[in-house]
Amino acid sequence: MPYSALSHLDCPRCGAQHDADQVQGTCSCGSPLLARYDLGLVQVSPRDIAGRPADLWRYHELLPVRSAGHVVSLGEGMTPLLALPTLGRELGVPRLLMKDEGLIPTGTFKARGAAVGVSRAAELGVSAIAMPTNGNAGAAWSVYAARAGLRSLIVMPVAAPAITRAECAAAGAELYLVDGLIGEAGRLVAAAVERRPGYQDVSTLREPYRIEGKKTMGLEIAEQLGWRLPGVIVYPTGGGVGIIGIYKALRELLELGWVSGDLPRLVAVQSTGCAPIVRAFRAGAATSEPWPDASTVAFGITVPKALGDFLILEALYATAGTAVAVTDEALLADQRLVTRLEGTFICPEGAACVTAVRQLRESGWLSGADEVVVLNTGTGLIYPDTVPDQAPVLAASGSIPARPPDSFTLPVPD
Ligand SMILES: Cc1ncc(COP(=O)(O)O)c(C=O)c1O
Ligand SMILES: [Zn+2]
Repeated sequence: MPYSALSHLDCPRCGAQHDADQVQGTCSCGSPLLARYDLGLVQVSPRDIAGRPADLWRYHELLPVRSAGHVVSLGEGMTPLLALPTLGRELGVPRLLMKDEGLIPTGTFKARGAAVGVSRAAELGVSAIAMPTNGNAGAAWSVYAARAGLRSLIVMPVAAPAITRAECAAAGAELYLVDGLIGEAGRLVAAAVERRPGYQDVSTLREPYRIEGKKTMGLEIAEQLGWRLPGVIVYPTGGGVGIIGIYKALRELLELGWVSGDLPRLVAVQSTGCAPIVRAFRAGAATSEPWPDASTVAFGITVPKALGDFLILEALYATAGTAVAVTDEALLADQRLVTRLEGTFICPEGAACVTAVRQLRESGWLSGADEVVVLNTGTGLIYPDTVPDQAPVLAASGSIPARPPDSFTLPVPD
C-alpha cells in the first residue's frame, strides 16, 4: 500500500486534470486545483489510525506527500477538541465544543498547511517558497521552510501581528512589509517570483497542498468524536482554505465509509469590517465581490476577495450552512468571556466564531440541542494588544487591598 493515495489534481471549475507530480499553481482557467486520491487504495481502517502517533501525518494515505522521508514535521496536529460547558450554557448551546488550534507549532492552524505544503514542495524539488500573508501563515511557512532547508520570501501588511514578523526573521526569511493589504502583498510576490527561478508562489490556493494540510482539522474532528460528525462547524473565514479543506475532508471520509449521515452545516464567520462572503451568501451568489476598505481586529480574516470564494460558497450551500458577520466590539468581548469562563485565551478570529454562535442561537438558526464545533484558529498570545490590562502599579512600599475590587470577582456558576 503506498504511503499516499494521491492520484492527480483536478480543477473544480473547468474539470481539467493535472499531473500531481509536477510543481503546479492554478489551472489555466485561473481556478485553484484540488488534490484527488485513489481512495480504493486506502486499506487502513480507523482502528489502524488510532495506533499511530498523535500528529496529522497519522492520515498520510489521505495526504499528498509520497514518501515518509519527505515529511517535515514539528509535531503538528491532534489539537484538543475541548468541551465548553460553562460557555455553552451561557450561550444556550450546551453541546458546544472548541477545536483549539492555539496548541500547535507557531500557535496557529497555519502550521498544518505549512507542514504539508512545505513537505510536498521539497519533495517536488522546489528550493524556495514565496508568499503574501496576513502574518500567521508567513510565520508558519518560514519555520517549516527553515526546517526543510528551503529559502522563504514573505510579504505581509505593516499592520500584521508584530510577533509573526519576529518569527519570520528568526527563521531567516527574506521579509518585507507592505503599506497595504494582503492583495497588494500578493501582487508584489507574483512579480518577484517571475524574476526568480526556483521560487514557488505558495499564496493561498495558488498551490494545491496547503488545503490538504488544513483538511486534517476535519479528519481530527471526526476521529475525536469517535468517527461521528457534529451537527454544525463554525469557522473564521478569510481566504477560506480551512473551511474548504474541512468540507473536502468530510466528503472523503463519507466516500471511505469511515463516517455516515448528513454533513455538518458549515458556517463561515467574517467581520462586519470585511464580509464579502457573507454578502455573497445573502445574495445567493456563486462568487463574491471585493470588499472596499477592509478592516478588523481579527486580522487573519481581512481578505477582501478570496480566490476560492466559489468553493467556500459551494460548501455553505451544499451543507445548508450559513454565513455570519460579527462586530469587532462583540468579538473582543467574547474573547475575554471565553478566557474567563473556560480558561483558554483564544485569538480574535476564534472569538468571532463564539460571537457567531451567540447570534445564531438568538436568531433560532441554532437550537439548544445542536452539537456545535467552533474553530479557534490560534492562540490569543499572538495578539497581546486585543486585551488591555489595567493592572495598577504599586510602589515597592505599597500594599494590596484586603478585598479584591468587584471587577475581579468571578461569576458564580449556577
Ligand atoms: C488566526 C487565523 N484565523 C483564520 C484565518 C483565516 O484562514 P482561512 O484562509 O482558512 O480562511 C487566518 C488567516 O490568516 C488566521 O491567521
Ligand atoms: Zn480549470
